[in-house]
Order: sequence, then structure tokens, then C-alpha cells
Amino acid sequence: MKSKIVMLLAIPFAIGAGTVQAAEKAAETAAAAPAAAAASDRSAESVVNAKCIECHGSGKKHAPRIDDREDWTKRASKGLDALALGAIRGHHGMPARGGRADLTDAEFKNAIFYMFTKAVSTPAKK
Ligand code: HEC
Repeated sequence: MKSKIVMLLAIPFAIGAGTVQAAEKAAETAAAAPAAAAASDRSAESVVNAKCIECHGSGKKHAPRIDDREDWTKRASKGLDALALGAIRGHHGMPARGGRADLTDAEFKNAIFYMFTKAVSTPAKK
């Protein structure tokens, strides 16, 4: 009985220690890469506006336009993961990761989700 309580008490402590370690690691990484500061704003919106818009804004090379609800809905019907996978590898006229090799999978997916959300919130044509 007593050992159970000790274990329960140890859990938050272990989690706390992990968080401190992660924070230290993040601080180390940040210190080691001062040049990355310029690229620090990697929110979905800024990634899309910095890069994806190049083709997805105008529909260059037949990229699904950011305001094309039908095109995005059709593509997204295979699921976000499948969509992301193809786009990460490169897909027809689209370079791998949209030419942003520095993006993590999560950042890339967020950028896709951002464009998809924009597209489906655009009123349908007709
Ligand atoms: C150089 C032009 C270009 C850039 C830059 C670009 N794309 Fe694309 N993208 C395309 C083209 C062209 C297609 C259509 C390919 C096709 O028909 O399968 C496409 C298709 C896609 C698709 C749909 C893939 C599918 O399976 O239907 C996704 C998702 C996507 N792009 C995400 C992105 C994201 C996120 C970025 C920015 C990080 C980006 N793209 C930047 C040209 C581009």
C-alpha cells in the first residue's frame, strides 16, 4: 500500500524532470543556432505566405488554389495524412515539401491544414 503511494508521488516528479530536460534542450538548440532566429516565425500562416502561396495562390502548374474549395475538398477526401505524405515526397508539379525542406512534418501538415481551411471557408463557386 505504502509503495503505491510513493509511486504515485514519483510520477509528477518524473514528468517535471522531463519537462526541465526538454526546456534545457530547447534552450541549447536555440543558443546553438542564432542564425535560425530569422526563420523563427514558422506558423502555418507565415509558411504559407512565404512559400506555398507562390504556386497555390495563383494555381501555377495546376496547384490547387488556396481559394478553390472544390479542388481541396476532392484532394482532402483521401485524408490529411495521405495528402501530406504525397506532398512531402513531391507530387507531380510540386517539389518535395513545397521546396521547404527545412519544415518538419508537423509544420508542413499545419501549412496544408491552413490552406485547406482557407479553401473550404471560401464560398462555393456557381
Ligand atoms: C513550385 C510550386 C509549388 C509550391 C511552392 C508549393 N506547391 Fe503544393 N502543389 C503544387 C502543384 C503543382 C500541386 C498539384 C500537384 C498535383 O496535381 O498532384 C500541388 C499540390 C499540393 C497538395 C495536394 C497534393 C495532393 O495529393 O493532391 C498539397 C497538400 C500541397 N501542394 C501543399 C503545399 C504546401 C504545404 C506548400 C508550402 C510549404 C506547397 N504545397 C508549396 C505546387 C507547389
